[in-house]
Amino acid sequence: MELYEAIEKRRTIRDFQDKPVKLEIIKRILTAGLKAPTNNHLREWEFVIVNDKNERLKILNLKDMTSYAECEKMMDSYGMTDSDQRGMYHIAMPKQFSMLYNSGCLILPFFKLREPLMHPTCLSSLNEFASIWCCIENILLAAASEGILGVTRIPMEEELNHIKNTIGHPDNYAMPCYIALGYPKEDAKLPIQKVINIEDRIHINH
Ligand SMILES: Cc1cc2nc3c(=O)[nH]c(=O)nc-3n(C[C@H](O)[C@H](O)[C@H](O)COP(=O)(O)O)c2cc1C
Repeated sequence: MELYEAIEKRRTIRDFQDKPVKLEIIKRILTAGLKAPTNNHLREWEFVIVNDKNERLKILNLKDMTSYAECEKMMDSYGMTDSDQRGMYHIAMPKQFSMLYNSGCLILPFFKLREPLMHPTCLSSLNEFASIWCCIENILLAAASEGILGVTRIPMEEELNHIKNTIGHPDNYAMPCYIALGYPKEDAKLPIQKVINIEDRIHINH
């Protein structure tokens, strides 16, 4: 698939077919991740793949938000007024656990920390964090080119503590998000993607 086509095909989906992703495909996708630009040349990234459903249950310490009213309240508290954005949250919030549990492949990416992530002293303190997100975008695009879509979720503090206690990763590695990948259900819900006119966003020479 051509790169621009993969960029167009990549969408966030949260409804997966009950179909595993073959390990050789996962390896291909992660190899594309490992080609991403990196701040210090070393690509100190590790990937924990959790495809055993019992193991998933052990590491996932979160629930779907089942109440419409609770979702509305959360969006109001964040001051969200855009109707497309609110529509996306109504699709996403009831699936935060189930999308991870039901995906064909659940990846926990880790990057090596140089400084405490939550206490940066300058912009370059965040280089490791920025680099792993370049890796994650490569993974999502490579997956799209294989017909595999998915979603990233940012874990809450208690989820991270639970994962640390469960899998016992080293203290100097951090997980920026979960990556759930898989084959989309035919009726997978797609929020309206904001279409942005490039003419509105470029500022030439000034
Ligand atoms: C940094 C980042 C954090 C995100 N966090 C979540 C999340 O916690 N839960 C979720 O369901 N989707 C999450 N997403 C997916 C976004 O909701 C999605 O990318 C956005 O709505 C645009 O839709 P699209 O990817 O289909 O274009 C995240 C995406 C990014 C890049």
